[in-house]
Amino acid sequence: MLRRAKDSRTAPAENLRLKSRTGGSGAVTIESMKFSAIQIQPKKSGLEEENAIEALIGCHDRIRHFSAMAVRLADATNEDGNQVSEAAKAVHRYFTVALPLHEADENISIDPRIQASVPATALADASAEMVQQHKEINALLKALIPLWEEVGTDPNRLPTHASQLKTDSERLVQLFDVHLTLEDQTVFPLMVKHLSAEDMDAIRTEMRERRRP
Ligand SMILES: [Fe+2]
Ligand SMILES: [Fe+2]
Repeated sequence: MLRRAKDSRTAPAENLRLKSRTGGSGAVTIESMKFSAIQIQPKKSGLEEENAIEALIGCHDRIRHFSAMAVRLADATNEDGNQVSEAAKAVHRYFTVALPLHEADENISIDPRIQASVPATALADASAEMVQQHKEINALLKALIPLWEEVGTDPNRLPTHASQLKTDSERLVQLFDVHLTLEDQTVFPLMVKHLSAEDMDAIRTEMRERRRP
């Protein structure tokens, strides 16, 4: 359960701040302690330089960043409308543009290679479980995405949807906690252990191609 900052009267936006684990340009500054601070972007993918695992972990940092931002947005009914709108648009953009690419990385580039290379053990099932969990996450996102779009267009709609946004975005954080743990601790180590260097290079190339403008 996320809690609001104790003294939200004197620092109304403090509880809306988010620090990306990857930091981007660094921690959020005191000066940026406005709701717009949640717009701060996590570190952008350095896919040209990173190997596949590093790039995937970077995606996970951004998933955690924007999921947490979605929870803060649901609590932002007293914040400035423009900032609410910008935050809703940022969350909407991330989950409609970037996340589908990451899922494609895992469903199309990774899972088939694991299925082909990893001996049939319980561990190998982790990859199939990963693909299955994407469906549950997407079903929840299907409910959230139109609400983010609506609030992005008209921030005055936030109070109407705040309760559902809160419930569903907290559920999203929970689902991703389980999901990203499965991938970080089981699926990615399987890749490292069982996939060839050629496979890993091919995965990275496919990820790069997927994001080519
Ligand atoms: Fe992932
Ligand atoms: Fe995933």
